[in-house]
Amino acid sequence: MRVHIRTTHRRGQRRIVGALSAALLCAAGVTALPAAARTPADPGPADATRAARPTPAPRLPDGLAKTPPMGFNNWNSTHCRAEFNEDMVKGIADLFLAKGLKDAGYRYVNLDDCWALPERDGDGKLVPDPQRFPHGIKAVADYVHAKGLKFGIYTSAGTKTCNEAGFPGGLGHETSDARQFADWGVDYLKYDNCNNQGVDAKQRYRTMRDALKATGRPIVYSICEWGENKPWEWASDVGHLWRTTGDISDSWSSMLDIAKRNLPLAPSAGPGHWNDPDMLEVGNGGMTDTEYRSHFSLWSMMSAPLLIGSDLRKAAPETFEILANKDIIALDQDALGKQATVLKSDSGRWTLVKELAGGERAVALFNETDQPQRITTTAQDAGLPQAAGYRLRDLWQHRDTHTTGTVSATVPAHGTTVYRIAADARWADHPPAVETGTDRTPLVEAGAATGLRSTVRNLGGSPAKQLAVTLKAPRGWQAEPTSPATARALPGGRTLTTSWRITAPAGAAPGAYPLPLTADYRSPGGKRVTTTLPGTAHVVVPPPSGTAYAAELPWLSAANGWGPVERNTSVGERDAGDGRPIRIGGTGFAKGLGVHAASEVGFYTGGRCATFSAQVGIDDESGDRGSAGFEVWADGRRVAAGGTVTGADAAHTISARVAGAETVRLVVTDGGDGIDYDHADWGDAKFSC
Ligand code: GLA
Repeated sequence: MRVHIRTTHRRGQRRIVGALSAALLCAAGVTALPAAARTPADPGPADATRAARPTPAPRLPDGLAKTPPMGFNNWNSTHCRAEFNEDMVKGIADLFLAKGLKDAGYRYVNLDDCWALPERDGDGKLVPDPQRFPHGIKAVADYVHAKGLKFGIYTSAGTKTCNEAGFPGGLGHETSDARQFADWGVDYLKYDNCNNQGVDAKQRYRTMRDALKATGRPIVYSICEWGENKPWEWASDVGHLWRTTGDISDSWSSMLDIAKRNLPLAPSAGPGHWNDPDMLEVGNGGMTDTEYRSHFSLWSMMSAPLLIGSDLRKAAPETFEILANKDIIALDQDALGKQATVLKSDSGRWTLVKELAGGERAVALFNETDQPQRITTTAQDAGLPQAAGYRLRDLWQHRDTHTTGTVSATVPAHGTTVYRIAADARWADHPPAVETGTDRTPLVEAGAATGLRSTVRNLGGSPAKQLAVTLKAPRGWQAEPTSPATARALPGGRTLTTSWRITAPAGAAPGAYPLPLTADYRSPGGKRVTTTLPGTAHVVVPPPSGTAYAAELPWLSAANGWGPVERNTSVGERDAGDGRPIRIGGTGFAKGLGVHAASEVGFYTGGRCATFSAQVGIDDESGDRGSAGFEVWADGRRVAAGGTVTGADAAHTISARVAGAETVRLVVTDGGDGIDYDHADWGDAKFSC
C-alpha cells in the first residue's frame, strides 16, 4: 500500500488517509490475514478482547446521545457539489417520514461543509450561501423540526473549514457561532479539524463545548479530529462522539480499514460517548449490497452513529431495506450501549460479540475474504449461560430458530451473518436451526461434469422434518443428487450429506455462475423453514498444451493490495491498464503479471500442467523501496516459496512442480513490513502443460 496524501482541502497541513486492500484472500483458509492488514491501532483479536474492560471516564452531564445518533449527512453523497442545497435537505426530511426511516429511529438531518459563504458579515456572523439556501438556515431547520426531526450543522475547529474554498471556521468565534447555531435551532454540531493553526486539540474542542453549553440549547456535539489526538482517551466529557479515523470512502477497502481501526476502541464507548468510525456509505454505489450489509452490520455492532450518507432521493429499494433493518438497528441502539468486541479473528474470519441489555448477545460472523468461509462459535463462548437451548434470530433473514449451542454459518465472500441469541426456556417453540455447506466451489469445463458434496446439519434439539435439499443449477445445466437429498426427519446434531453431479452445457462461457443450495424442512410443530446458501460454480477452460503464459490464461480469481492485477505490465495502483512495462533490477520482461502485495491470482490447470516458473521481484518503479515474498500454491499445498525480495534486488527465479494440481495460486505476501511500495512482478510467468 502506498499512503495517499490528500492535500486538496488542507490548508497549511497535510493529512494522510490510509486505505487498505480488499485483497484478503484466505481461500480454503490457507493464507493467514497478512500482517499488513493489521493497522497500528489494531493489536489483533487477543488484545482487543482483553482490552474490553470498561474504564470509568468522566461524562457530559446533559444526558444527550444515550444511544448513538442516527440520521443523515450530505457529505458522502454530494461533497460540495451544487446538489447540496435546501431542496435536497428538505427532500431527505420528507423521505425520513415517507420511507419509514423516522420510524426506524433516524432523527438528525445534518448539513456538512459548504453551506456558508466564504466571508462573515460585518458583525462577524456566518452567512448561509444564498444559492444553496435562499431562505437561510433557520427556515430549513424549521422545516426539519416541523416533521418531528432534528437538525444539525457543521463547522471546523480552525480558521477555515476543510473545503479548499475555505469557509469560515469557528476558532476564535466559538461563542458567537454557537449562539448563532442555537438561534437557528441547531440540535447537532459536527466540529472538524482543518486549519487549526496548531492550537491544542483538547483546548479547541473544550472551548466549543463550553460555548455550546452556554447557549442553554441541548446540542449533540460531534468531535471530528480524525482520531489524531486519540480523543477516546480524553473526550468523553468533551463531546458525545468522536471520529476515530480519517474519512471513509465508498469502497470495501476503506470501510474494512476503518472497521479494523475502530474495533479495538470498544472499551471507550458507552452511552453519551461514542466512537465514530465515520458516516455510512450504504447506497452510494461503490460496494455490493452484500458489502453494504456488512458495513451496516459492523457499524451497528460497533455502536457507531448511523448517519446515512447517500442521497435517498435516488436510492434503490435495497438501500432502504438495509438502512431500515430494525433488527440490526436495535443492536446499535441497545440501551446498554456496549460496543462489540472481537471474540475471534482468524484468516479473515471474524466473530464479534455485542452484549445487549437483558443479557442477550449479538454475534456477527463476518467474512473478510473473497471466498465463502465457515465461521463458527457457541452461545457460551458468546457469553451466554449454559442452557439446554437458545433462541437464535437471524437479523438479516428475520427468522427465529433454536440451537443447542452451536452458532455457525457458511458466510459468503465479504458477507456478515448476524444473530441475536438468548438463553430461552421455550427454545423448542422455534424450529431447529440448520447449517448448510458445500465442500468446494465446483470448477467444471463446458460440456463436462464434476462432483460436489453438500451438508445440512441440524444444530437444534428437535428434528428437522420433511427435509429436502436442492441445488439450483443455472439454465441449461444439470445438478443431480447421486445420494439421498431428502430425509423424513433429521434429528438434532445429525448431518445429511448429499453427493451431486453437476454438468455444465457444452459451449457455456467461462466465468462464475450462481449455484444456490436450499434446505427446506418443518419443525415438529409444522412450521416451515427454507434457508438458502448462495453458492457459485465456475466454468473453466483447460490451459493449452505446451508453454502457457500466465498473462494469457483466464483467472479464477485475482486480488491485489492496490489496483487491479495487470497482464504484461506493472501495477499502477488505481485503474486497469495504468501500469508500465515490467522491469526488475534493470531487466525488462515483455510478459508477466504485475501485482501489488498482498496479492493472490488463481488459475485453473486441471491436472494438465507439470511446472510453473517466473522471474520475480519488486518493479523498478518502486526504486529501492518495497519488499515482498513470492509463493506458488498447488491446490491446498505451498509448492514454492522464494525468500523476501526488496526493491534493491535483481529478479529471482521461482519454479515449482504443479503436476496433478487442479488449481494453482500465485501468492505475494508483504515481506513482513506492510504493503507500501510493494509493486511485485511475476516476470515471464509461465506454465508448462
Ligand atoms: C473533513 C471531514 C469530513 C467532511 C469534510 C468536509 O474531511 O472529516 O467528514 O466533513 O471535511 O470538508
